[in-house]
Formats: sequence, structure tokens, C-alpha cells
Amino acid sequence: MFQVPNCQDDALALDRGDPLAPARSHFEIPGGTIYLVGHSLGPPPAEARRKAAAALDAWQRDLVRGWNSAGWIDLAERMGARIAGLIGAEPGSVVVTDNVSVNLFKLASAALGLARRPLLMIEEDEFPTDQYIVAALGRLQQAELRRVPTGEGIAALKEGGVLIKSVVNYRSAEITDMAAHEAEARRNGALIVWDLSHATGVLNLALCSHGAQLAAGCTYKYLNGGPGAPALVYASPEISGKLSTPLPGWMGHAAPFAFESHYAPREGAARFASGTQPILSLASLDGALDVVCGQAPEDIQTKARRMGAMAIRRAKEMGLELLSPQDDARRGGHVSLRITDGYPVVQALAARGVLSDFRAPDTVRLGFSPLFLTYAQVWEAMDILGDILSTHSWDAPEFHIRAKVT
Ligand SMILES: Cc1ncc(COP(=O)(O)O)c(C=O)c1O
Repeated sequence: MFQVPNCQDDALALDRGDPLAPARSHFEIPGGTIYLVGHSLGPPPAEARRKAAAALDAWQRDLVRGWNSAGWIDLAERMGARIAGLIGAEPGSVVVTDNVSVNLFKLASAALGLARRPLLMIEEDEFPTDQYIVAALGRLQQAELRRVPTGEGIAALKEGGVLIKSVVNYRSAEITDMAAHEAEARRNGALIVWDLSHATGVLNLALCSHGAQLAAGCTYKYLNGGPGAPALVYASPEISGKLSTPLPGWMGHAAPFAFESHYAPREGAARFASGTQPILSLASLDGALDVVCGQAPEDIQTKARRMGAMAIRRAKEMGLELLSPQDDARRGGHVSLRITDGYPVVQALAARGVLSDFRAPDTVRLGFSPLFLTYAQVWEAMDILGDILSTHSWDAPEFHIRAKVT
């Protein structure tokens, strides 16, 4: 039975027994930094840098021949196969391409072609890009758009349309019951497009056994693929053959180098690849996956929850308002706190070496990436937060200057 640590020594004892401790040596994080933003942009594993450098070398050496000699042409599918293993997905059901926004568009459009009714549904606290994409898609395809209150997506599935839904909410970290939603969708001729952005690489996902049909998700967060690393698309083998992408580019064609005038989709999720892939980013993701794929997903999930439980205990002792579920089983890899002056608090934390993020209007998010963080660092970060709040050091004028990215 896990005991939430009461002191730094307890945290150090957890680090000594941590099965993921060896993974930390793969990361090159500047000294003096406690990186609580792996849920936003993972740090670089040495393998990512090595594989990105090898791709640059291959470019210089092989020039255009690299598409064949270095296997660039299949890289998006090879990365899909590696990620499929991590998320409990079937072979051939994942491809890595474009970004989450574009992939949500493609998947939701394809889902409209199969759902019982031309209806798009989204809960009102979903990540903004998901909201914008469904609204635009609804206008383009003359599908009705229904915004439903938070938590009511499952009831709305009765309508038989397409629901866009995060597995882990970007703000609260609340987890959605995938299996229950999918069962309800199937009963009603509805489809769900899952946004796995805050779940991939931190939760022990089981897409196939939970009945998932369609999903998109980030690779630059807990998978540490690098800034702008392309996103994943999942399409279950049960329906992928019936799906039409609204962006049928040549890289999703069954025979791109036959240069045919008419589009014929590839088998499986690969049909959702559209144009030429970002090889340098895929190469860096390949290196990053060398680290993640060597770990047990169950260990990753357990450690993230334990670090989150530690942070929650300390935050409550400080009297802070929690926006995330306290029940570990209902929470993803981050913990959100409501702090009215959250922006300057996040800047003051950064000045003390603790990187976290702020989500307007008042949310401070602390992310607990299990591969490179220690329990002792989480303890120390919470000490620093307590000090900043009790001394009001966050209120210095320099911490109020707004940057573009928060
Ligand atoms: C839940 C969620 N969905 C979508 C996105 C956007 O992804 P992209 O920038 O790859 O389109 C993010 C980005 O942080 C996110 O957190």
C-alpha cells in the first residue's frame, strides 16, 4: 500500500525503490532545473538528439536517396507501430503525421461519414483547438454542432453523432472512462474521436480492449518527441477500411509513386497521412521512443499518480484550491491548482528553477513525468512553491511581465 511521503527522507526512500530510476540518465536537463512541464513539452532524451543528428547526416550523405537508404519513406508508419505498442492498439492501426488539430479534423470528418446522424458534439471544457476544429468542420459539412456541459458527453451519445473527447482533460487532468463511453457509442450508432494528448506516454492505455475506434494525440508531451513532433492517428481495424479522409494527399495513397490521377487510400490508419512527412522530427521521436518503449506503462502510470498524490497533499496543507481529482485513479499525469495570481507565481517558480505552466485565467499546472523526475524533486518543488506563496515573492514586478507562451 502506497504511503504518501511525509518528509523529504520519505521521498528519497521512494526514489531508491523506483523501478524507473535508470530512465533518468537518458535525459539532458540543465542542472538546477525541476522540470514540471513534461505534460507540455517533454525534455530531450540523448537518443532523440542522436537520431536527429543521424538523420541530418543521412541527408548530407545520401541526399534524395535517403528516402530509400535511410527508410524515411516508412518512418511515419514505423513510429505508428512503436506507439501502437504503448497504447494497446492493434498492428497497422496507428500512423504518426501532421499535428493533433489537423488529425482531429480528419478523423471527425471521417467519423461523420459513418455515424448515425450528421451531428458533432463536444464538452464545453475541451481543449480550445478541439472546439475550434469541430465548429469549423460543422460549418463546412453542414453538420449540427452541439456543445454539451462538462461530463455530459456520454449522455449525448444517445443522439448518434460524433463526440470529440479527451481521455485526460488538459486543465483538470480528470480521466474519462473510455470503455463506458465506447459501449454507449456502440449502442447508439455514435462514434468517439479521442484526444489522447495528455494521456499518451503517462497512462497505461488499452485502446483496443476498451473498444476505441478513433483517436489523435501528441508525441511532444510525455513521449518527449521534441517541439512540434508530429501527432498520432489511431483508426481501429474494425472501421479503418470504411473511413474517408477529407485531406487525401499522396502519402495516404496506396501507391504514391504510381502517380495516379485518382485517389486510392492505403490500408489501415496510414490513409490519414497526407503530405510529405517531417523526417527530422520523426527521427527525434524515434530516439525518444527508444527510452519510453523500454519501460513498463504500468510503472509509468503508477509513478505519475504517486508524484501527483504527493503534490496534492502538500498543496492542501498550503490551503491551495485543487482543480484535479484527488482520487489517483481518476487523474492523469498532472495536477492543477487554482491560484488567482497564477501567472506571476509560475514566473517566480521558474526563477527558482522550477518550470511549470499557467493556463489562463487562474490555473497553475504541475506535470509529473515519471521518466526523469524524482520524488525528492517533487518534494523540493512544493517547498519552493510554499516559500514563494508565504513570502509573496511572486509579486515582484518582473514576474508580472507577460510572455507570448505561458
Ligand atoms: C488536449 C490537447 N489537444 C490538442 C492539442 C493541440 O495539439 P497540436 O498543437 O498538435 O494541434 C493540445 C496541445 O497542447 C492539447 O493539450
